[in-house]
Amino acid sequence: MKSIVSAPAKVILFGEHFVVYGKKAILCSINKRVTITSSKTDEAIISVKSSLGEISVPSSDSIDEINSPLLPFIYIAKKMINEFHHSGGIKITIESEIPSGVGLGSSSACCVAAAGSISNLFTKYSKEEILNLAIEAEKTIFKDASGADSTVSTYGGIIEYDKKSGFRKINTNIDLHLVIVNTKIPHSTKHVVTKVKEFIDKNEKTFSDLCEEEMKLIEKVNLALKSGDLKFIGEAMIQNQKYLDQIGVSNKILRDLIDNANKTSFGSKITGAGNGGCIIAIVDKSNIEKTLKNLQSKNNECFSVQIDSKGLDTF
Ligand code: MEV
Repeated sequence: MKSIVSAPAKVILFGEHFVVYGKKAILCSINKRVTITSSKTDEAIISVKSSLGEISVPSSDSIDEINSPLLPFIYIAKKMINEFHHSGGIKITIESEIPSGVGLGSSSACCVAAAGSISNLFTKYSKEEILNLAIEAEKTIFKDASGADSTVSTYGGIIEYDKKSGFRKINTNIDLHLVIVNTKIPHSTKHVVTKVKEFIDKNEKTFSDLCEEEMKLIEKVNLALKSGDLKFIGEAMIQNQKYLDQIGVSNKILRDLIDNANKTSFGSKITGAGNGGCIIAIVDKSNIEKTLKNLQSKNNECFSVQIDSKGLDTF
């Protein structure tokens, strides 16, 4: 039996980094997906094949001995093998349309799709159980992950999330389009989160004030999402970007792109960890083409996306 599951990429509309410290964030999943196919094998080997490379390990190997970006998938496979006393192995294939390492939640979407696909070979997990397994797996490579990215990839749509209360769907009729610019400058989320921690250690009061400002902004954005006020949401993005600049996750390339994006869109900001990766600009049908044209350059990859409302999808 083959088990095929897909999960979407995400953007953080508001609140990255603050969410690591228990504050709220607003995220949405987007129409770019990863698809994972898995099957049981007789041989006791776990094998993973993806564009990031390949790995094959005996099912009995300890997780601690594995040093690979593909570790989360081995973790999920091993956990299922042990829990369901499977004497063989698992073959996992990852096919992705999500650029990796640039803030679009590629690794979280892969963990969600893998948790869904592999668990489905043994049992029928609820979305909540799949999400918990995906977050556990993600933490094998990034222990401070807030869980926000995996949550939106599992449930889809626009959500408000915080670590303590989990997620709440935001229902809106808004026709949200986003232009994404991938600077192709790779970043390590773990590294940028550590840098922010160093900033906080030296600037506790500033960070706590910024957290408060961010929370006030998110409250207002919630109302604007309900009323469909794109202009306000764009201005709020510009404001959020100022906070991200203050905690040190921006740089000249990103700032120049954002200044440019703000000329033709409703507003723009970094999405994800920052210091590289992607920026997002909020647009509608009236300014999408102009913004795409404005931001396209030979140094980057520029495309438009829409909200994905499905989340995790089992075939
Ligand atoms: C990464 O997409 C977003 C961060 O807030 C980290 C996290 O939430 O785990 C920087």
